Amino acid sequence: MSSATHSNIDSILQENRKFEPPAEFSRHAHIKSLEEYEKLYKQAADDPEGFWAEVAKELHWFKPWTKVLEWDAPWAKWFVGAEANLSYNCLDRHVLGGRRHKAAFIWEGEPGDVRTLTYQQLWLEVQKFANVLLDLGIKKGDRVAIYMGMVPELPVAMLACARIGATHSVIFGGFSANALVDRITDQQAVAVITQDGSWRRGNEVKLKVAVDEALEKCPTVKHVVVYKRTASAINMKEGRDHWWHDLMAKAKDHCPAEPLDAEHPLYILYTSGTTGKPKGIVHTTGGYAVGTYYTTKMVFDLKEDDTFWCTADIGWVTGHSYIVYGPLQTGATTVMYEGAPNFPDLDRFWALVAKHKVTVFYTAPTAIRTFMKWGAEYPNRHDMSTLRLLGSVGEPINPEAWMWYRDVIGKDRCPIVDTWWQTETGAIMISPLPGAIATKPGSATKPLPGIIAEVVTRAGEKVPLGSGGFLVIKKPWPSMMRTIYGDPERYKHQYWSDIPGVYFTGDGAREDKDGYFWIMGRVDDVLNVSGHRLSTMEIESALVAHPKVAEAAVVGRPDEMKGQAVSAFVTLESGSKPSPELKEELRAWVAKEIGSMAKPDDIRFTDTLPKTRSGKIMRRLLRELATGGDVKGDTTTLEDFTVIAKLKEDEQ
Ligand code: WT7
Repeated sequence: MSSATHSNIDSILQENRKFEPPAEFSRHAHIKSLEEYEKLYKQAADDPEGFWAEVAKELHWFKPWTKVLEWDAPWAKWFVGAEANLSYNCLDRHVLGGRRHKAAFIWEGEPGDVRTLTYQQLWLEVQKFANVLLDLGIKKGDRVAIYMGMVPELPVAMLACARIGATHSVIFGGFSANALVDRITDQQAVAVITQDGSWRRGNEVKLKVAVDEALEKCPTVKHVVVYKRTASAINMKEGRDHWWHDLMAKAKDHCPAEPLDAEHPLYILYTSGTTGKPKGIVHTTGGYAVGTYYTTKMVFDLKEDDTFWCTADIGWVTGHSYIVYGPLQTGATTVMYEGAPNFPDLDRFWALVAKHKVTVFYTAPTAIRTFMKWGAEYPNRHDMSTLRLLGSVGEPINPEAWMWYRDVIGKDRCPIVDTWWQTETGAIMISPLPGAIATKPGSATKPLPGIIAEVVTRAGEKVPLGSGGFLVIKKPWPSMMRTIYGDPERYKHQYWSDIPGVYFTGDGAREDKDGYFWIMGRVDDVLNVSGHRLSTMEIESALVAHPKVAEAAVVGRPDEMKGQAVSAFVTLESGSKPSPELKEELRAWVAKEIGSMAKPDDIRFTDTLPKTRSGKIMRRLLRELATGGDVKGDTTTLEDFTVIAKLKEDEQ
């Protein structure tokens, strides 16, 4: 298991605090007691198809299914033969059913501008933009890349694609032009939706400039639609680039939602795996709708008058599932914020909670640790008494941060849901149901109804309770990924082959005697840096692409704030000399190749890297070095023993 999580493992092994759901909370919750959860869990385990069919019936289908699940491992089809549309379920269902004038989104820009879109207003915008796409000749099945900041037009663009059956692929605004090229090329996108720029900490993130650079290498893209946000000067290429507002002014209001097969691909979202090439995770219409709807309703216990705020960026799966598709399907009011948590001051999030009367708040451990460092005075400036439930996602949460979240933000009143899931799972898998399950700081607690999770050995045998092992999911679930875009073999190989017959998550975990799961972090070459998922191989490839670099090895090391930090070991081409300037140049290079979140935190130059006799880089040794410890482990397969001594010398 990666050493990066050891400090957390030590602390959670000693963790025995337990917090029961407050009685008042349970009384009003969707699931009110442990008994009720257990009954539901058993019912779903005994008859998963019956269970999911009942959930699905709460949504709208143009045509019913003939079969709930067709499972030819690892290939799943959910709601076979059914037709549905996510945009219909998010919008038309509410507008026609009486939620016409309820706020769907309360959006706040970083400069402080506020816009509220009711379900009806959002519905009209989406229909118009769907017509814009159709007018540009974009058809059902085409791929549309979306590269935007956190403005309401981003969910409008996603829902418009979903409405006509175009498959969207949102690319996080922090990715570089080069990363855009890889993702656009892989999916052969026909159009890009973007904006001039986005506000972040008072600065402009120049999105259109990156798109212009990327598109020089992307011949499949015929159209670019540009939303005006910052009004900075940009180039508009004749015939290719169109202003959002010009096209919207001409578009018709009415565009009926296209009935789509339940397995029609809704979106592709790229994520990092264990190789250098990002994987296009494919989610489909029916199952994803059911999974995100159910988990939003149950985990966040959403009721008609809640105001939900998930602080994620829509560029990641958390935003797809818990800003857009989940909350809108439940008919909730969602807060969306454009900018940074420390602009103009360190209390911006809490100012937003107080101003918009947020009741359910969902953020990441890396953010919580940062807030902790900034100090309680910032949340304490604001009346946050509307909060009733807090959520965490993205990485293991250390008990100290969990307790701070509970005490300082939740004032010891609000249950915390620590939600474990992945881009691949589409929706939350392991999490407390807040009215039913007592929480322990650092544990994601129990699998949700319908989810069969287990901790096993490499051979797939269940490990004894209390022991560490690999986290697997044993039965298919509706919101599971269907494939890797363009690479079904990799899907099969990566997730369903290591441990026979089950879905391998890539995470290590432990189940305690109460059946609570404790997630220990990744056991593969995937890093989790401030909740951003990065591949060591991807960063290595970026480094090696630099003309002065001969070889590179990247490992994670524990970092108090970021969870993990990126440590790079680099050997240079002959003729190139190590220097502090070159370190900076390489860091900037990685930012350009991937995005600034992937910049190595430290770079060490070395003459050689430790390798096994078969030529594999011994990352374990490098991890130990990066952590500052002595190299203790087994070094018998090391090809050149002097390498370690050399590396240690280089440090001085
Ligand atoms: C990886 C997935 C899905 C939301 C955002 C991340 C880690 C996620 C938790 C949690 C411990 C967690 C895992 C997982 N992770 N949530 N509550 N406790 N670890 O999505 O980028 O696909 O990353 O994030 O290691 O495998 P992602």
